[in-house]
Amino acid sequence: MPVTLVTGAGGEIGHTLVPRLAKQGQAVVALDLNPLPPDTASHCHAQLVGDITDEAIWKGISDRYDVVAIYHLAALLSTTSEKHPALAHRVNVGGTLNVLTFAQSQATARGERVRVLFPSTIAIYGLPDATTKATFARIKEHQWLQPTTMYGCNKLYCEHLGKYMTRHAAAKGVDFRCVRLPGLISAETLPSGGTSDFGPEMLHAAAQGKPYECFVREDTRIPFMVMPDAVDSILRLMATDASKLTLTAYNIGAFNPSAGEFADLVRSAFPGAMITFKPNPMRQAICDGWPADVDDAPARADFGHAPAYDLPRAFNDYLVPAVRSRYGLSSASVTR
Ligand code: SER
Repeated sequence: MPVTLVTGAGGEIGHTLVPRLAKQGQAVVALDLNPLPPDTASHCHAQLVGDITDEAIWKGISDRYDVVAIYHLAALLSTTSEKHPALAHRVNVGGTLNVLTFAQSQATARGERVRVLFPSTIAIYGLPDATTKATFARIKEHQWLQPTTMYGCNKLYCEHLGKYMTRHAAAKGVDFRCVRLPGLISAETLPSGGTSDFGPEMLHAAAQGKPYECFVREDTRIPFMVMPDAVDSILRLMATDASKLTLTAYNIGAFNPSAGEFADLVRSAFPGAMITFKPNPMRQAICDGWPADVDDAPARADFGHAPAYDLPRAFNDYLVPAVRSRYGLSSASVTR
């Protein structure tokens, strides 16, 4: 039976992506280190618990399924990768090589290309100082590809690996596509181990009436987007004919408040929010090297990236009402 494989399906992106794939009629086989949350599992045709670095798991999948598309979401994020660099390399690079090798073998067996979606990141950029960050305020795909973190190095290398497999493997092979994701904010889930986590953490803490100590300075500015828009762009990219795609890896973005501006929006929605700023040097340095915003013109032109939520809409129409409902608050004090 033809199936769509989603690695790391139990994570934040999987939580929104898997139901969308199921709604399109795709039979999703989920692979994750841990059993899936029930609300993700209920949308899957099957779930496999296993490690992407374990070659035996890939043999098991090819014995049982015809995999026609892969969404390779499994990864360690930037802060965790700085703390465990060898593990990050093993999972983020070794795991991706296994995914690509598997995709190639599936393509060869059936004589048709297998589309592979790889979520890359703004962490593949590395700006050396604040002046350069201000000068390259909306970074283009080819600029400053000098990552400063293990995570950024892993992801940039894997972009190249995917491109290599697409161009140089047998004629019918891997069809590899990337979006370079900004910080993602979901009302339904919280990230773990990333460095853009301060945005969603601030919001979810305020909705729960908990104090939040932000680990970057108030003037820290990086791009963000809400999870439904990120998943929408991922699906648009995967649905686009290869002949229309001019790049392997596309920037996508939506808005880019500073941490202080983000805190102000949280405070206006949750007037009791207790937000303080105490920069963590390692995490601050990571954000300082990331661009303030991305130029996503190629994604808009090639596959119709068009985020529905700008910053006011993201707060007023999605994040605030949805986190209020998640934590059982009335919708009375949503500000406009
Ligand atoms: N959200 C990721 C992180 O913070 C960046 O892509 O690691």
